[in-house]
Amino acid sequence: MTLISQEIFDRIPTAVIVVDDKRRILHANRAALDLVGINAPGRDLALNLRHPAVLDGLDRVLKGAPDAEGEFTLPVPVSRSMSYRIDRLPGAPLDDSSIATVVLNDITSAKKAEEMRADFVANVSHELRSPLTALIGFIETLRGPASDDIDARSRFLDIMHRESQRMARLIDDLLSLTRVEINEHVPPRHAIDVSRSINNVIEALEPHAAQNGVTFEIDCPPDLPNAVADSDQLHQVFRNLIENAIKYGGENKPINIMLRVVDRIPGSSRPGIAIAITDHGQGIPKELIPRLTERFFRVDEARSSSGDNTIGSTGLGLAIVKHIISRHRGHLSVQSAVGQGSTFTVFIPTEIQPRIERS
Ligand SMILES: Nc1ncnc2c1ncn2[C@@H]1O[C@H](COP(=O)(O)OP(=O)(O)OP(=O)(O)O)[C@@H](O)[C@H]1O
Ligand SMILES: [Mg+2]
Repeated sequence: MTLISQEIFDRIPTAVIVVDDKRRILHANRAALDLVGINAPGRDLALNLRHPAVLDGLDRVLKGAPDAEGEFTLPVPVSRSMSYRIDRLPGAPLDDSSIATVVLNDITSAKKAEEMRADFVANVSHELRSPLTALIGFIETLRGPASDDIDARSRFLDIMHRESQRMARLIDDLLSLTRVEINEHVPPRHAIDVSRSINNVIEALEPHAAQNGVTFEIDCPPDLPNAVADSDQLHQVFRNLIENAIKYGGENKPINIMLRVVDRIPGSSRPGIAIAITDHGQGIPKELIPRLTERFFRVDEARSSSGDNTIGSTGLGLAIVKHIISRHRGHLSVQSAVGQGSTFTVFIPTEIQPRIERS
């Protein structure tokens, strides 16, 4: 192969290996080197690619089969899924001089996305199935054994109302999550007064908090700069976190909300505002903290799927929070101690003030 054609060959992002009838490597491009470490022409391909499916396919093609294709997994150094396609070179005679091309593609990301999508559909179906099963059960009971029982009817209708609201919330939250994900690559640009946003959320949740004897203690400096944010989405973040603090923070306990300016948002070089929401409730076991923002994750499944306190609990709240914060190029940190309470801290960027040079 000439220098120029090797250069062109190297620019192909797919791994291409050309072998002779003895499986010896004649040519391999840079992608083949990156993907499976092939860099020594003349060696048996089996020394680099020990996968039986590929080698059998190659032997079949070299003996006359027109082509072979499939998928395989390379377990080391990290597990990777690959697709392969083997062709006898067009026009090459089927004799001692026949040659074949082996084309490899890394399909690990596509496979992972496929698995995640399947898991997601399974989770959604399960989450919708449970309230629906309850509804069907109660409808059947009301039509049959409880048809004349006025007390049971009113009790069952209450439960049916709750379960149908749960389904409606699940669908609203899923749509909300999808909307956030669609825009996640476009950071918001508006200047937003964070303390006003917090106060609006508190005002809306005040009746619910009062029912549980929960009070709010807010600590906010007077000269807080504006955040660069999307007003509705910021409201949604604070609403989810404060709702959680009310729900899991226990009755008759305060919720502390502290706002501060920070020079650097963790993991970024931008300045921002930190909003820490602290409750004094049951807390979260340390090992479960990384899982909180997973879709449908709940620390206590049993508690979330029953009881008046958790009506409409979908396990999607913190997943939505995470995606909104990521769109804002912010950060979420969680500190918690079982039996003592939790602090969820949101970091949102502020406008970068131009430096004023004084002479
Ligand atoms: N402040 C908190 N204290 C203790 N546990 C919490 C707190 N916030 C969240 N959790 C736990 O994390 C889980 C996930 O929270 P998330 O907000 O995502 O869902 P949810 O509250 O169950 O449902 P939704 O927000 O849709 O009503 C909760 O089920 C709860 O177990
Ligand atoms: Mg929640």
